[in-house]
Amino acid sequence: MIRSTIAGIGMYVPENKISNNDLSKVMDTSDEWIQERSGIKERRFATRYKDTTTTMGFEAAKIAIERAGMAVQDIDFIIFATLSPDYFFPGCGVLLQRMLQAKEIGALDIRNQCSGFVYGLSVADQFIKSGMYKNVLLVASETHSYALDFSTRGRNISVLFGDGAGAVILQAVQDGNRGLLSSHLHCDGSEAEHLCMMNPGFHAGRFVTEKKPALPAQPYGGMFITEELVKNKDFYPYMDGPAVFKKAVVKLPEVILEALSANGYAPSDLDLLIPHQANLRINQYVQHKLGLKDEQVFNNIQRYGNTTAASIPIALCEAWQEGKIKDGGLICLAAFGSGFTWASTLLKW
Ligand SMILES: CC(C)(COP(=O)(O)OP(=O)(O)OC[C@H]1O[C@@H](n2cnc3c(N)ncnc32)[C@H](O)[C@@H]1OP(=O)(O)O)[C@@H](O)C(=O)NCCC(=O)NCCS
Repeated sequence: MIRSTIAGIGMYVPENKISNNDLSKVMDTSDEWIQERSGIKERRFATRYKDTTTTMGFEAAKIAIERAGMAVQDIDFIIFATLSPDYFFPGCGVLLQRMLQAKEIGALDIRNQCSGFVYGLSVADQFIKSGMYKNVLLVASETHSYALDFSTRGRNISVLFGDGAGAVILQAVQDGNRGLLSSHLHCDGSEAEHLCMMNPGFHAGRFVTEKKPALPAQPYGGMFITEELVKNKDFYPYMDGPAVFKKAVVKLPEVILEALSANGYAPSDLDLLIPHQANLRINQYVQHKLGLKDEQVFNNIQRYGNTTAASIPIALCEAWQEGKIKDGGLICLAAFGSGFTWASTLLKW
């Protein structure tokens, strides 16, 4: 039986560390508020004219390729998950193919926000299990800091997010005892506007009326970008934090249990849960709900904030580097985010 294993893993975070106190100098917030509500102590911000979503993905990919003991030319396919692409189009997948000087292989961009990496794992796994590809490079990278509102108006979002990238090489093996066991993908678009960035966009001013977000007036219908939109600074992400929190604490435990029970396991069998790093309080709630011990859950949001699609591969990479992932270990990756989308993957390392 062909299975996909993670043959190499890498991460890259920009060098620029931003503390909560740094943020409190530009907006009305405090270290105490941010730590108490989210657990975040600091995050990394990309350096302008140096770091982009693609360049950070490239750095993480180089490490993953080297750790897999491969050459760039061995990669059969690229999958790139991000909500903060360098260009509106083309996507980061082709930009990464160019930077890597890879062969003229296919590249696919995934837009599933915080669930992007887990969705990407599932897609890569299908290509591998079908026998189509042997080595798939999956990259998740985000540069939120170039599009956050650092005035007090945007404080409920901008204190939570950070920049960074993670990458894995998914490789085909003929070994029933290790690799990805299953992935479980979900969405509920009825709450799409609870966490979104609508402008600039092609929505033509046509909204599902009752779901229109509580942003300032949206008179920009039919135009991708207008002077008025820029004047009103109506181009930042919007989030109804409490609504996201409420849904996440239900869907995350659900999708983790779904992955475990699909493979005949219970929470106590888990060696490590790596949840998406959106809020330490969400992850503590999930841990409590599933009755997991501290050593069964890995969090690093304290140092990086929420890096959206990149959060799970960055956490997985750090956990592996810290020796917390052993050969044969049962690992669950679980994500929840904008869409809403949520997903899990269960794997044996
Ligand atoms: C964003 C989040 C931390 C806010 O915590 P909360 O306890 O729900 O706080 P609320 O949004 O209800 O706001 C409480 C108060 O804090 C204020 N506030 C918001 N952001 C603040 C900040 N950065 N600093 C200080 N005060 C802030 C609000 O204005 C509000 O003030 P008010 O009571 O005077 O109106 C929390 O809702 C959350 O984490 N949600 C999930 C977010 C998430 O996971 N997003 C990514 C999904 S992938």
